[in-house]
Amino acid sequence: MINREFPATRLRRNRYDDATRRLVAEHRLSVDDLIWPIFLREGDGPAEPVASMPGVARTGLAGLARHVEQAARLRIPAIALFPATPAAQKDSEGTQALNEDNLMCRAARLLKAEYPQIALVGDVALDPYTDHGHDGVLRDGYVANDESVAILVRQAVNQAQAGIDIIAPSDMMDGRIGAIRAGLDAAGLIHTRIMSYAAKYASAFYGPFRDAIGSGGALRGDKKTYQMNPANSDEALHEVAMDLAEGADMVMVKPGMPYLDIIARVKARFEVPVFAYQVSGEYAMIMAAAQNGWIDGERAMLESLLGFKRAGCSGVLSYFAVQAAAFLEANP
Ligand code: PBG
Repeated sequence: MINREFPATRLRRNRYDDATRRLVAEHRLSVDDLIWPIFLREGDGPAEPVASMPGVARTGLAGLARHVEQAARLRIPAIALFPATPAAQKDSEGTQALNEDNLMCRAARLLKAEYPQIALVGDVALDPYTDHGHDGVLRDGYVANDESVAILVRQAVNQAQAGIDIIAPSDMMDGRIGAIRAGLDAAGLIHTRIMSYAAKYASAFYGPFRDAIGSGGALRGDKKTYQMNPANSDEALHEVAMDLAEGADMVMVKPGMPYLDIIARVKARFEVPVFAYQVSGEYAMIMAAAQNGWIDGERAMLESLLGFKRAGCSGVLSYFAVQAAAFLEANP
């Protein structure tokens, strides 16, 4: 029990001035904590703004190196790639995921050549490539687990061979981490890391992302038979335990802000690197309120990111990554 009594103790004393507040600060956000998700488009056209994510655009390969230049200069350690696939390239099996010249692979090769110091995170799931918008293949209307896993393994190997450093399976199929680890190892890719989307919830906060990659309109039904029920917390620990046993190097909780309790439980229980994904809807909410003058966008951004650190995260995937890194550089 912590036994401290007023007036001998006045907790406000440690908040008295900026110097003292800095000295007693328990957590701190740094550029090393940031992973920047970016959206890719086909073709030579200009970057296309994502309407529901002000400040975010889908970038073509011609402009990609320039798009990433500031992030590289700021020393953002990792970038996560998300391709928007033209409808003509989608099919029911998501075969474009296995094409070694698909948008993600071409982007990975380009970025590896240009910025070898930046770790590339590859999302492994079929939803950017399926005409039904699900993360796996459908059999009798149900996302078939084992058949989907077999495809996801090939997708992961394809990405790693193109230069993706960190494979991030976001599909929530059972057993995929073990299968992907074995597939990578069999291909000699023993250094490729796996950041598992271990506790990924069936969430309303992915809406703007589905606009960004164009999977939302196509999505038939919902993802509740594979993504987790927001009502559950114990179940997240089982997801994490299994993914770690199967070979995950790092685990992720997603979305972020409504699930800080999950992050804290996972960190306390497993003592492994935990990441949060501050998802598209969280970004959109902060931006929309800020643009209306209802909150201070910069402070809300920094407070939300610091909250992930306090909850126990090693890092955060955030669409604010570049903005936050620029702020941290200017305010060391
Ligand atoms: C899909 C995937 C999703 C996100 C990352 N990978 C959406 C979904 O599951 O439908 C969401 C990211 C965001 O909302 O920012 N495998």
